[in-house]
Amino acid sequence: MIYYFSGLGNTKYVAGKIAEAVGEDKFFIPDIDPLKQYFRGKSLGFLFPIYSWGVPGIVIDFIHSLPETFIQEVKSNKLPVWMVCTCGDETGNAPEMLEKCLLERDLSLNGAWSVIMPNTYVLLPGFDVDSSVVEKRKLENSERAVQDIAEKIKNGIWEWKLHRGSMPYLRTKIVYPLFKKWGISAKKWHHSSACVKCGKCVKSCPVKNIALESNGPVWGDNCLSCLACYHNCPYHAVEYGGITKKKGQYVCPLK
Ligand SMILES: Cc1cc2nc3c(=O)[nH]c(=O)nc-3n(C[C@H](O)[C@H](O)[C@H](O)COP(=O)(O)O)c2cc1C
Ligand code: SF4
Ligand code: SF4
Repeated sequence: MIYYFSGLGNTKYVAGKIAEAVGEDKFFIPDIDPLKQYFRGKSLGFLFPIYSWGVPGIVIDFIHSLPETFIQEVKSNKLPVWMVCTCGDETGNAPEMLEKCLLERDLSLNGAWSVIMPNTYVLLPGFDVDSSVVEKRKLENSERAVQDIAEKIKNGIWEWKLHRGSMPYLRTKIVYPLFKKWGISAKKWHHSSACVKCGKCVKSCPVKNIALESNGPVWGDNCLSCLACYHNCPYHAVEYGGITKKKGQYVCPLK
């Protein structure tokens, strides 16, 4: 059984490929009720994008909310639990963060992998989408990486193979909590005069945090900072404060 979260499709693409190769059903976390889950399958996998060297809160909350009957089914059948994250460059100690969350449900994390994909983060100075050359290279390399991971899962080869980057402990321990607290401000999202009220940003939001009103889209407080609204606007009319005006856009072409 595979549960995944994805903002711009990188993780959706990886989840789709792995689910197909290992023969497990996959579910998009925002679309399902954790309390109604019952376990079926040969293993339990979680896939998510790295957010500030950590695990998106929606994934952590989902695991915490799974029913005890679900957890007992995985435990009593000694089924393997694994994760695959996608990242622009580095994961930090995000796998340890997921492991801690699983341990709180009395589950161990058997396998952990990362796949480098094009970057989606643009909300701080110095961060932008990749150049078209880098984007193309990352997408090409990802195909092989995903195949390798799927083979390992299929054959029950459990390893931790990650692109951790420098100072992973510090980044996850110190930067992630700052990101969680200050990284996103609902008040900063707005639409520019280029908006034609097409509603694409509204449809792209996985948690229905945007409403289309007579003047254009309006953002609520329940933002996951996935940036789907920003990258999916065909007119580059979604802005975050003043920082995104000159930034690029990216949506995974493989999803
Ligand atoms: C809020 C946010 C924070 C991010 N932080 C990191 C990071 O710490 N390290 C990294 O390598 N990539 C980071 N990224 C890039 C994404 O992890 C990467 O592009 C991922 O593949 C996006 O997956 P998705 O298309 O499934 O949303 C971040 C992206 C966002 C939106
Ligand atoms: S996607 Fe862009 S143009 Fe369409 S409603 Fe949203 S901000 Fe406006
Ligand atoms: S408002 Fe935008 S950034 Fe926030 S969760 Fe929705 S799509 Fe993602």
